[in-house]
Amino acid sequence: MFFRPIDDDIKLSLSIPQYAIELFELTDNNRTFLKQWLPWLDGIKEPLDTKKFLERQLLRFQRLEALHTTIFYQNQIAGVLGYNQIDRANNIGHIGYWLGQEYNGKGIMTKSVRDLIEVGFNYYCIERIDIRCAVENSRSRAIPERLSFRKEGIIRQAEKLSDKYVDHVVYGLLKNEYTSNTGIITN
Ligand SMILES: CC(C)(COP(=O)(O)OP(=O)(O)OC[C@H]1O[C@@H](n2cnc3c(N)ncnc32)[C@H](O)[C@@H]1OP(=O)(O)O)[C@@H](O)C(=O)NCCC(=O)NCCS
Repeated sequence: MFFRPIDDDIKLSLSIPQYAIELFELTDNNRTFLKQWLPWLDGIKEPLDTKKFLERQLLRFQRLEALHTTIFYQNQIAGVLGYNQIDRANNIGHIGYWLGQEYNGKGIMTKSVRDLIEVGFNYYCIERIDIRCAVENSRSRAIPERLSFRKEGIIRQAEKLSDKYVDHVVYGLLKNEYTSNTGIITN
């Protein structure tokens, strides 16, 4: 496949249906971990569910509505990352992500999101990147905070998880706050 190298161990690929079996296995092995913060686990029961999801994402990519990528760490699928929604009317990219628990703590997501920011600003005419995290999801919040996103506010009861509603913190990064040639955020 075609890959974007992030470093010696990490690479991103456009998500394709051919990844369904391996991605399903990662999802299935991390059900309890992921369910803490993601609402869709009960809808993924077998590899075919993952395949259908990836097919939908590819169609949305074709329509420039989304860009879903699969993260490889040492050639194994470690998680996913993407612009889950690209709001073309307002040039906003909404980022979402998850990693298998065994891949946490290595900087994989922060490095990958940094790269996706470049892709969004340089190739997708995105002017604002939006990341929303549950207030208590400190690992997720640390990613936009490391990348100098601005904390813009709280949306109350923004998402229903399996056992509770959670408030979201909204983080934003504007293109004019970002200098692509140095990789430095300038706000
Ligand atoms: C959110 C999630 C992706 C964060 O994973 P993560 O491993 O903490 O994030 P990163 O891959 O950026 O790694 C950061 C960790 O690696 C360490 N690290 C090592 N090298 C690093 C580097 N070069 N750059 C940044 N961090 C590095 C950091 O210190 C940090 O570890 P710490 O938390 O022990 O301090 C993961 O916990 C997850 O998938 N959670 C469940 C799903 C979820 O919550 N999704 C988001 C919904 S909004």
